[in-house]
Order: sequence, then C-alpha cells, then structure tokens
Amino acid sequence: MPRIKSPALLVAESGADREGHGLRRSMGLFQLICFGVGAIVGTGIFVGLSDSVAQAGPAVVVSFVLAAITCVFTAFAFAELGGAIPVSGSSYSFAYAGLGETTAFLVGWCLLLEYGVSVSAVAVGWSQYVNELLDSLLGVQLPAALSASPGDGGAVNLPAVLVIAMAAALLVRGVRESARATAAMAVLKLAILVAFCAIGLSAFRDGNLMPFAPAGIAGIGAGTTAAFFSYIGFDAITTAGEEARNPRRDIPVAILVCIGVVTVLYCAVALAAIGAIGGDAVGGQPAALSYVVDEVTGSGVGGGIVAFGAVVAIASVVLAVMYGQSRILMSMSRDGLIPGVFEKVSPRTATPVAGTLIIAVVFAVPAAFSSLDAVVNLCTIGTLAVMAAVNVAVIALRRREPELPRTFRVPLYPVLPLLGVGCCLYLMYETGWTTWLQFAAFLAAGLLVYLGYGRRRSRLARVTPDADATDAVPQPV
Ligand code: ALA
Repeated sequence: MPRIKSPALLVAESGADREGHGLRRSMGLFQLICFGVGAIVGTGIFVGLSDSVAQAGPAVVVSFVLAAITCVFTAFAFAELGGAIPVSGSSYSFAYAGLGETTAFLVGWCLLLEYGVSVSAVAVGWSQYVNELLDSLLGVQLPAALSASPGDGGAVNLPAVLVIAMAAALLVRGVRESARATAAMAVLKLAILVAFCAIGLSAFRDGNLMPFAPAGIAGIGAGTTAAFFSYIGFDAITTAGEEARNPRRDIPVAILVCIGVVTVLYCAVALAAIGAIGGDAVGGQPAALSYVVDEVTGSGVGGGIVAFGAVVAIASVVLAVMYGQSRILMSMSRDGLIPGVFEKVSPRTATPVAGTLIIAVVFAVPAAFSSLDAVVNLCTIGTLAVMAAVNVAVIALRRREPELPRTFRVPLYPVLPLLGVGCCLYLMYETGWTTWLQFAAFLAAGLLVYLGYGRRRSRLARVTPDADATDAVPQPV
C-alpha cells in the first residue's frame, strides 16, 4: 500500500487555510503573475535562443509553440492542483497526495534538478551578460579565469556565485521585500523585451525567414527541447501557496496568464531577431539579443540596454527559483523526509533562513564550476519528469478524491493530462541517451537516500506505520 497523504491533511498541516502559520500571506494576483514571469523569463530567451535557433532555424517559432503546448497541458494540471492543495510543496505535495510517498520523494529529488540545477545554469547565463554589459558600458570584460567555468576556458565563475549570494540575501530578508523586487524586475524585463521586438521588427525582412526549417522536423524537435528550458519556472507559482492572499483563486489564474504572455513574447522575440539579421547570424551567438540590437541600430548603446535587461531578468529568475526551492524543501522537511533544518522559519523575518542559506551554498558550487550546456539538459529532463508526474497526479486525485474542492478543473479531462504526459515523455526522449544515463544515476541516488533516510523518518509512517494514513493528522515529533 503506498503511503498517501490526503489533500485535507496536507492543507491542515501547512496551515495554508489560516493566518499565522509562520509564513506571511502578502502576495496578491499581480505579485503572483510577476513572480511567475520572474521565474520564467531569463537565460532561456536571452542566452538559449541562439541554441534553439541553431537547431531549428527560423522554425524555432514552431519549437516555442510546441514547448508552450507541452507546458500548457501541464499548466492546467498545476492550476487544478495548485488551487485545490495550496501548500508550499508544489509538485512534491501533489505527488504525495496522488501517487504516494516514494514517488513524492523522487519528485522532490527531481525538483532539485529543476530548481537547483536551473539556478546554477541561469547564474552561468547571468555571468555572460554581465560581461556583455561591462563591455558596452566601460569597454572591459572580467578576465575569463574569474568569469567562466573550467569547461568554458576559465577557472571559476565568480559572477554566477555573486548573483546567487545576492538572491539569498534578499530572500532571507522577507517575502514582501523579495516579491517587490521580483515585481519591479519582471516589469523591467518585459519592457526591454517588448522594446527589443519593436527594434527587431523595424528591420524585418521576409527573406531572412528562408529556408524556414533547414534541419526539417528533427531540427524542430531538437529546438523544442532546447526552447523548453525557457519555460521552466511557471510551476514555481504554486510554491507560493502559503504566502498568497487568495491562493485557491489566484494561483490557477496566475499560471495560465504567465504561460500565455510568455509564449507570445518568446515567439515575437524569435521572429524579431531572425527577421532582422537571419537565422544563421542568430544561431550560436552567445549574447544574441544584444548582438541583434547592435546590428540593427549600428551602435553599442541599444545592445548595452538589452544586456542590462538581461542582467536584471536573469537575476530575477535566480531569486524566484531559489524561493521555490526553499519552500519545497521546507515541505519535505515538515514531512520528515529530509533533515529538520529546512523547515525552520525565522520568527523575525518569517522566512526559512537556514534552508535558504544552505541552498545558496550548495548551488553556488555547480554555478562556479560548470558550463551552461553541461547542466541544461539534466535540468530539462528532471523538470519534464516532474511535469509528467503532476499530470498523472491529477488523474489519480480525480479518481481518489472526486469531492475535493477544486477552484479550477483541467478541461477535456482526461485527454489533456494524458497528452501532457505524452509530450513530456517525447521531450525527455529528445534529450539524448547521455542525459538519460545521468538522470538514471541521479534517480538511483535519490532512491537510496529515500530508503536510507526518508522512509524511516517519515512523519506519516510514524503515526500510522502500516496504513494508508489518509485521515490521520500526525503530531509534531
Ligand atoms: N526559464 C528559466 C530561464 O530561462 C529557467 O532562465
């Protein structure tokens, strides 16, 4: 019998339906949307666009739409579960309620890839644009030894470590401060991307879109997997379940609005970039968007402004994703599956200070020493596995808990969740066998940690050792 935790129990334990549960309810719909945009738009579009274009050519627009469709199926699932079970644990908690403790632990473990590894990957992308910015402002760049990993020809990536440290400092100060900063950064980056589209489209030439799909269907498929990274993060909105003012209403709306806005924006940015200078010139260009603006305007000023936007945009992804990671670990710790230090909330700042600092230190290491390419695929496959599990959890919970109050329901059920699983599995397949091997090793390590630590210390197991404890309320241990 799997150890399953009922949605009612998850919500009761978190205190998500009442005030005074440690965290503060300070986020309204606007902040949630900004938080979502903050978590989504960053390295993927500012740095990764050139990789996707290198694979798919101008048909990268199709890749963006296909990646968005995968996300939309899953976004519906997140919207249904985020509204029904508004707790910090996000997909981990949804899997606990729908699929049982072992799967939940593995989902939480994979979230380390989605949130943790993406923080490292995103921080590495940040470093590239910091150099671009310094170059356009002062005509200097940081020495490669101090701003690139050994795989990229340097020794240590210090800017990547710096952005993680700054995000951690802001996060421990309080969620209101972080939400304000995230909102300001989200608005700024949207404005810069819209301005980018206007500049790129002003130089648009149809001929630059030809040949449209130079590498055919295979190129579009590979481009979709690459483009998927730019959507990662929308689910972080559900980690604010305990800090949103009206989570049951606002979380589903915020998720769907974010995916819609971001998809339109990404397609427009890709069209503007390729339409202005052609797919061959965009593909493989490290700071592609700055390059496009410089080419179109014929001066370095516009490119500098875009580089500034990228520095802000990517920093906000680090901030939002680290926030999400700390909240998920808090939930896992509350369940006894990982050490108790992650659930401690400081009474002064109402934030999980120790957990946030530990995450910062742990993820600064790959940020300092790995290259972007080395971590992006692993992050992508882990995220897709989590998304597949969340779609399955929707189906399991509809069957097990038909009466659960749902403020949003996935349309065309069960077709959309099943399509969501299918799309996730297809994109996972596209990541290639090296990534699969790394992922299998990562999962095996997670299973060992669960069997050696979490399974024996699970709070749910302590109160109801043999049973499916759906109705028991564990006492603090
Ligand atoms: N979607 C996030 C980014 O592109 C991870 O930076």
